[in-house]
Amino acid sequence: MKSVKVGLVGLGRLGQQHGDNLAFRIPRCELTAVCSVVEAEVKQARERWGVPYGYTSYEEMLANEELDAIFIASPSGFHCEQIKKGLEKGFHVFCEKPLGLHLAEVREVENAVNRHKDQVFMLGFMRRYDPSYQAAKEKINRGEIGEPVLIRCYGLDPASQIDGFLAFAKANDSGGLFLDMSIHDFDLARWYLGAEASEVWAIGGSYSRPEFAELGDAETGAAMVRFDNQAIGLFVAGRNCAHGYHIETEIIGTKGTIRIGSIPERNQAVVMNEHGVIHECVQGFIERFEQAYRAEAEEFIRCILEGRKPDVTVKDGVESTKLGYACKQSFTTKTLINVQE
Ligand code: NAI
Repeated sequence: MKSVKVGLVGLGRLGQQHGDNLAFRIPRCELTAVCSVVEAEVKQARERWGVPYGYTSYEEMLANEELDAIFIASPSGFHCEQIKKGLEKGFHVFCEKPLGLHLAEVREVENAVNRHKDQVFMLGFMRRYDPSYQAAKEKINRGEIGEPVLIRCYGLDPASQIDGFLAFAKANDSGGLFLDMSIHDFDLARWYLGAEASEVWAIGGSYSRPEFAELGDAETGAAMVRFDNQAIGLFVAGRNCAHGYHIETEIIGTKGTIRIGSIPERNQAVVMNEHGVIHECVQGFIERFEQAYRAEAEEFIRCILEGRKPDVTVKDGVESTKLGYACKQSFTTKTLINVQE
């Protein structure tokens, strides 16, 4: 295969970023088709990236035999169905997180991926491709902090995006705070600790906007998790972060600690004036993880070309969804939940 021809479905916030990468930045990748239910988005995307084929129906895109791979960046509620259909048509499939919103459907996807062993499937846990998170993993593997025993994660979206999110959540099933926001942290915790979650207690509330409670969701929440090797996970998620997009991770080991993103600074410029010493904060996921989105897409294309499988597997999607779902159950029922039951 000289190059990989990709069809991209979902042309929203993240679809635009993936489209830029697939069209312009990934070697031996051709963005050959785009698909969205919104016709204007399809037209705009075809013009912007010079894409030969555009569709408003996913099934019609799957009938295009020129394609080798499907890249899914549609809303989370469509992921499982679109993955299964893409695999059944013989395509390699990349899908944005989360794998799905319900346990039954993610298990079906796991079976579908296992039935199509010759095709590449990859899930968009892009933090694993971020240079800082990768460096932390290498240091843990080298034993620099001893045995990891506790992970503390903050995943906070900017308050400036709260209106946009509420409009999205009223029209779509986001999965709720833990499945939508903490899912990356759950994956990182499993990756760093080398363990699966066994029990979770999750709480949350709607502190600045009552609409979250009306949706049965939390604006800010916290989960405490016991892993099956007795390690501890503390996960804080929120959608009302005044200073911007705050993603912070700490791994405490028996011989040391690693912190990633303690101060979520935008760049190295510091203003010192009558207000104090000021670092501007990064304002969103694209700004913070731009490199990682590109690196994960590059890895997907390389896996197809080289006939190998990526490190992020469908099992990572299933296990993180199980934990996210258990958090949601714990938050809703106000009880301790056994994740593996
Ligand atoms: P968005 O709402 O901005 O865009 C969704 C796109 O999908 C739009 O183009 C919409 O027209 C299209 N669409 C909707 N239903 C469709 C269907 N049935 N068939 C084809 N196209 C359809 O959403 P956003 O923020 O780009 O999120 C997309 C996915 O990416 C979500 O699953 C979300 O969880 C995930 N995401 C992942 C992030 C990460 O850090 N990895 C960050 C943000 C989102």
